[in-house]
Amino acid sequence: MKRILIIHYSQTGQLTELLRSIAAPWEAADYRIDHLVLRPKRPYPFPWSRMSFFDAFPESVGRVPVELVPFDVPPDGPYDLVVLGYTIWFLNPSIPFNSFLEHPLAETYLKGRPVLTVIGARNMWVLAQEHVRRRVAELGGHMVGNISVEDRSPNLVSIITIIRWMFQGKKDPFLMFPAAGIRPQEMQGAARFGEVVRLWLEGKELDLGPALQEAGAMRIKPALLLLEKRATVLFGKYREFILAHVDKDPGSRRRRVALLSRLLPIGAFILSPITAISTRVLSLVQRGAIEAEIRRIMDY
Ligand SMILES: Cc1cc2nc3c(=O)[nH]c(=O)nc-3n(C[C@H](O)[C@H](O)[C@H](O)COP(=O)(O)O)c2cc1C
Repeated sequence: MKRILIIHYSQTGQLTELLRSIAAPWEAADYRIDHLVLRPKRPYPFPWSRMSFFDAFPESVGRVPVELVPFDVPPDGPYDLVVLGYTIWFLNPSIPFNSFLEHPLAETYLKGRPVLTVIGARNMWVLAQEHVRRRVAELGGHMVGNISVEDRSPNLVSIITIIRWMFQGKKDPFLMFPAAGIRPQEMQGAARFGEVVRLWLEGKELDLGPALQEAGAMRIKPALLLLEKRATVLFGKYREFILAHVDKDPGSRRRRVALLSRLLPIGAFILSPITAISTRVLSLVQRGAIEAEIRRIMDY
């Protein structure tokens, strides 16, 4: 009997549902699955207020950990696989998940073990995953693959639907917009990734990384990757700006976060189409280099 440990944080339950779908073939095979659910000591509100949402920006971008509720699953089970399930906050691993990666006990769960990452996000996760991959290696884990399931709507459509979901708690379709988040067929279809993992665990001649990719576990669009890179640089600068004067003027953080809460949605709508065109042109010009980078990123 195989044993799997799933470690994850999900705020609304979307990632939990995705992991459940991926784990369905493992359950059917009677594997023993342990769940370590990460809980921040101070829970994040849902739905978010505008200010609480954007106030998570500096610590998300700076990858500053928070305190977690003590873990209720010991690290010493004979696990054949550890699954790390996480979501993205402001282009980085969510604060609660990142707090696990920075936790003094994280190494005891990962060291010497095969690690599979599972991401449930809107559509920008690539650079966060590069960080997680490095961190898992630092902690002695051995990355065997990644599964990333995202909202397949066009970028601007998913920005509108996710804002309504996060700020009003409404996920259903409205006007001409689809439901927010990962589509039901993507959610259910994720079970096929679990089946690939099962075959690998059963020792069938199978290279997990390429087999997962063949099943469609990771799709990276060159233009979106360029957009993500640009946004990452801007986010770093804006984080510095938010925190620049907090020592002398503690109220400055709040004012600058409030400004961000106006600028970011406007920026996404005005700049994103322009950037989308320029990044598409750039992605054509730099096609060879970007494709090589994507191949490297997808190589597990
Ligand atoms: C504060 C915050 C920032 C987010 N930023 C991003 C992002 O940069 N890229 C992305 O693809 N998704 C982003 N999302 C969406 C999440 O990755 C995730 O899909 C959503 O919060 C649902 O996850 P859950 O399972 O925790 O409920 C963000 C969500 C939150 C709450």
